[in-house]
Order: sequence, then C-alpha cells, then structure tokens
Amino acid sequence: MLTTSVWQDTKTFFPLFVDQLERDGAKTVYVVGASDGKFVVPLAHRGLHVRAIERDLRALSGGPVTFPGPRDGTMLGLRGRLAAEHLEAQVEVIEGDLLDLDDTPEPADAVWTSCSWHYSANHDRPLADFINRMKGLCAQPRGVLGAEFMMPVEPRHHGIEHYLEAGEVRRYLPGWQILWEAYTPPFVEAPHVEQLNEHVHRMGLVIARRPEHERES
Ligand SMILES: C[S@@+](CC[C@H](N)C(=O)[O-])C[C@H]1O[C@@H](n2cnc3c(N)ncnc32)[C@H](O)[C@@H]1O
Repeated sequence: MLTTSVWQDTKTFFPLFVDQLERDGAKTVYVVGASDGKFVVPLAHRGLHVRAIERDLRALSGGPVTFPGPRDGTMLGLRGRLAAEHLEAQVEVIEGDLLDLDDTPEPADAVWTSCSWHYSANHDRPLADFINRMKGLCAQPRGVLGAEFMMPVEPRHHGIEHYLEAGEVRRYLPGWQILWEAYTPPFVEAPHVEQLNEHVHRMGLVIARRPEHERES
C-alpha cells in the first residue's frame, strides 16, 4: 500500500481493516488522529469518502519537523498532500480534538484510529470518552470500529489507563462483535518523528462491529 507520510515506516495492522472495508462494501470512513494522511490518502485512493479528524494544526497544514538523524525538515501536512494528489473532493478535514467536537458528526460505515488515544492530551479524560466518541461515529447498526493502540512497555505506562493490556479493550465494546483482535510481542520500532531513537513498542488491534441492539456500557 503506497503512501508517503512522516509516519510511513511505523508498523501497522491497517491492511486487515482495509480488507474488512472491502468485504463490507464501505463507502464512508472516519480517520481519528489523521496526522498527515498515512491512512487517509490510501483510503481516499480506494474511492472511500474520508472524514479526517486531527487536533495538531501542523500535521494538517504542514511546517517544520525533526526527522531521525536528527535532521530538520518540513512536513507537507495533510491539506498539502491532498492537494498534490488531487484528493481534496474526497476528504473532509475536521480540525479539532475528537473529545471536544461540538456537533454530533454524521456516522460513517467505519472508523479507524492508529496509536492516537495514548497521547498525553487524552489522559485527563477516561479512555471510555475517546472510545465512546469513536463508537458514536460508527453507523447504527453494523458500523465497524478499527483501532490499533499502544500497550504498556515502560513502567510509567502501567499507571495510565490509555495503555491497554491484551483483552482489556473488550471492556469498552460490550455487545460489539469482535472481528479481529491481535497483539504483538514487544518489537523494536525504527526511529521516527517524535521518537528519534530506536525504541520498543507493543501494539494491540481490535476491529469490531456495532450490534443491532446495543447494550449500555
Ligand atoms: C501516532 S500519531 C499519527 C498516526 C497517524 N494515524 C498516522 O500514522 O499517520 C497520532 C495522531 O493522533 C492525533 N490525536 C491524538 N489524540 C487526538 C484527539 N483526541 N483528537 C484528534 N487527534 C488526536 C495526534 O495529534 C497525532 O497526530
């Protein structure tokens, strides 16, 4: 899957989510924590209408960034990439924090996020707020929620609810049909923006379908 992004070399379960969208014939999808479009751009190229939610204005409009090396550079930003790839008509950029969006956004066939909810900006609110917002973006019934997320590695992570251990994500999705659930062992991630040295990650994946009749969480 060809893409260019400041996040392009990080590992991902995204192809499993794309398979699910194709099997479902999905037409609309949210990307939460869209950054500069690692996932937005390939989804738009596949013909989906994408709504990209991102709180970081530099990721949206571009600007200076430090790459591994360290090497100073400039990121084009999501809007610049969409213009360069003639995808503006297919992507709606929603500038803001998922947790603070005023309106109730129109639901979509699916919603995806990659390694976003562990960001410290989300720690003063329960993880359930973030996941419930994502659930609210999924069509009723049968909308699909896909999330890959960081698991605890460092001692400080263990005190933070937003780093989930294997299986814990199910608590936030009562009644949802789990389509995929996977966990990596610890693996060495190459340096990338925001973490300029080699580092260790553990990552979880859940892809789940909204039920016909949802139980209260
Ligand atoms: C690991 S980064 C970028 C990953 C991105 N999915 C990609 O690979 O291109 C996660 C992104 O989530 C965004 N993010 C985290 N919490 C958010 C929130 N509550 N609302 C909107 N964006 C958020 C961050 O600003 C960051 O750009």
